[in-house]
Amino acid sequence: MATSTSISPIFPMGSAVNERGVLEIGGCDALELAREFGTPAYVVAEDDLRARARAYVKAARAAHPDLNVVFASKAFPCTAVLELFAQEGLWCDVASGGELHLALAAGFAPERIVFHGNAKSVEELRMGLERQVGLFVIDNFDEIDRLGGLLAEGVGSAGGSSTGQQVLIRVNPDVKGETHEKISTGQADSKFGFSMAEAHTAIERVQGVPGLSLQGLHAHIGSQLLDLEPFQRAARELGGLGDFPLCDLGGGLGVRYTEGQPTPPSIEDYVAAVVAAAQESGLGAGKRLLIEPGRSLCANSAVTLYRVEAVKQNVRRWVSVDGGMSDNLRPMLYGAAYEAEVVDRFGEATECVIAGKHCESGDVIVPQARLQDPKPGDVIVTPVTGAYGYAMANNYNGVPRAPVIFCREGEARLVVRRETFEDLTVRDQSSVRDLPTARDQSSVRDLPTARDQSSASDQSTASNQQREAAASNGI
Ligand code: LLP
Repeated sequence: MATSTSISPIFPMGSAVNERGVLEIGGCDALELAREFGTPAYVVAEDDLRARARAYVKAARAAHPDLNVVFASKAFPCTAVLELFAQEGLWCDVASGGELHLALAAGFAPERIVFHGNAKSVEELRMGLERQVGLFVIDNFDEIDRLGGLLAEGVGSAGGSSTGQQVLIRVNPDVKGETHEKISTGQADSKFGFSMAEAHTAIERVQGVPGLSLQGLHAHIGSQLLDLEPFQRAARELGGLGDFPLCDLGGGLGVRYTEGQPTPPSIEDYVAAVVAAAQESGLGAGKRLLIEPGRSLCANSAVTLYRVEAVKQNVRRWVSVDGGMSDNLRPMLYGAAYEAEVVDRFGEATECVIAGKHCESGDVIVPQARLQDPKPGDVIVTPVTGAYGYAMANNYNGVPRAPVIFCREGEARLVVRRETFEDLTVRDQSSVRDLPTARDQSSVRDLPTARDQSSASDQSTASNQQREAAASNGI
């Protein structure tokens, strides 16, 4: 049983320090989690995730008669997370064939899937049409042509139906919110969507394509926005572009990463404010609305556990942990601030740098942490890693990607296992060992030249075939 020792509200709800002085997430002791599942690990408080989904659904119901909440799956593209949100009645935003695959595998009804992207391939468009996604969000004129072409070929059943494939047009409303420039998308000079000047032409073009059914407009002005005013301005801009049955107001509500940062608007205030602005500009009763939160649905629901590998002192005290830019790229990409604690010694005594294990100086997770006497073997926690951490994880330095653990009422459940070293080589198809070895070669001059490349690839295909034949013979 957790005692009432207070803990920062940036941790998942229900987090506490137990009577042994150890952090608990979802009722699970962080030291035991580290022992059982290893580190680094993403630890998700399942009830927190559900509570945020419910808060969104409730706020949506209160704000508008027909408003659906679409989870931006890029924030945490993990099947268990998607399944939970599907169960809670959310829709799903996907931005690639891979995300579409994940959303379908997690059980989202295709008609609740919204397909985004500024560079959708023909194959991705074909997949979306064949799987009958609810909405495509068209980003550019080439996409209109590609969709039109696929429908003319009879791809997907929507092309032949009387209503057609429902689509939205992404408009860039030229509204710039205050956020990191790499995640700001509403300014005129952005790669996303049609400019306000092009919007009317895009609308006419889409309306002229047989098999496409234009439902309305979409805008997403950026991410980690803490001020509601730009969202409202964007909603007004959309309302001014015409009368349509549906409007997708995008995502972008920011979260608090450190205790020192200002408290962002609540989910309720955000939903009420953007919906009111939309309603004032003609998107009132009788219109369907969508919002697409990602970060604010999952960032604060998870923490990352690391183990300290080494501590050294030079100009500063360096605490090196067993993860870093392979499990959380945000500090390196956006200068994003995080906090850290030793899970069984919350406190502030020692100023230190929490560095990752990767081979570059920029691999710093928290540049100015204050930890209680950190030592090798300690387990460290960084809160607020539920959004865009797992999503942007990578294998830099051959580090296997971390597992995801769901915790609820003291029960821990592994929902994504840690990658293994074998996973790092599992996609390999051919190796230089398949080419003739040095022994077989009289000299390096016999190695294939550019001219001989086709024969070299024949050779490697041949050796692949030999290997496959050997494998099927049980050799
Ligand atoms: N809708 C669209 C079309 C989007 O592109 C995004 C995010 C969202 C919704 C959800 O936005 P959110 O509610 O999560 O702010 N990797 C960056 C964030 C990139 C956001 C990309 N698009 C980060 O770690 O901060």
